[in-house]
Amino acid sequence: MNNAALENLLTRRSCRAFTDEAVSADLIAQVEQAGLCAPSGRNRQSGIIIEIASDPLRSELAELNRQIGGWDQGFDPFYAAPVILAVLVPSDCPTGVYDGSLMIGNMLLAASALGLGACWIHRCREEFARPEGQKILDTLGIKGAWTGIGHVALGHPKENSAKALPRREGRIFKA
Ligand SMILES: Cc1cc2nc3c(=O)[nH]c(=O)nc-3n(C[C@H](O)[C@H](O)[C@H](O)COP(=O)(O)O)c2cc1C
Repeated sequence: MNNAALENLLTRRSCRAFTDEAVSADLIAQVEQAGLCAPSGRNRQSGIIIEIASDPLRSELAELNRQIGGWDQGFDPFYAAPVILAVLVPSDCPTGVYDGSLMIGNMLLAASALGLGACWIHRCREEFARPEGQKILDTLGIKGAWTGIGHVALGHPKENSAKALPRREGRIFKA
């Protein structure tokens, strides 16, 4: 293949093991920019990204996510990724789920293109429906009703950490 963007699209894989190395502000900004460039219904561009890259908030969010997911104590549902990018949309946005999902998709692809590891982590909706999530919004001065769509867990990947899962055949129907 001689098209780098397409190659990245076909080879991106979820990463669930990260090194301790910090991700530079420049790399995080490039990933976020890709998220902001995603298409959105009626070009509303209403989705936002909350960057969480330091403790205690990162650990608090991981613990909240773990409790919502019902995992055993000590499990980190963000796989020790140093950066968490939470995507939220206004709760009254009719295309919010689609818009936010595309933002996450763009960021996963950007991370892969930059040699970073990334994974979509769920349960953002539940987090931000709870008082702990609301407190994060309040602290940042984000007003109104917001719905969490998902997180990108981001970091430098441990070697060979991303497994290439085969794709199911038979999902294209030519009418
Ligand atoms: C809506 C959605 C929710 C996901 N939630 C999680 C999650 O909470 N934890 C996780 O490890 N992976 C999660 N993933 C990643 C998927 O498991 C992963 O994309 C899928 O297994 C295919 O693997 P690939 O991304 O390497 O192609 C999620 C993906 C999507 C699209």
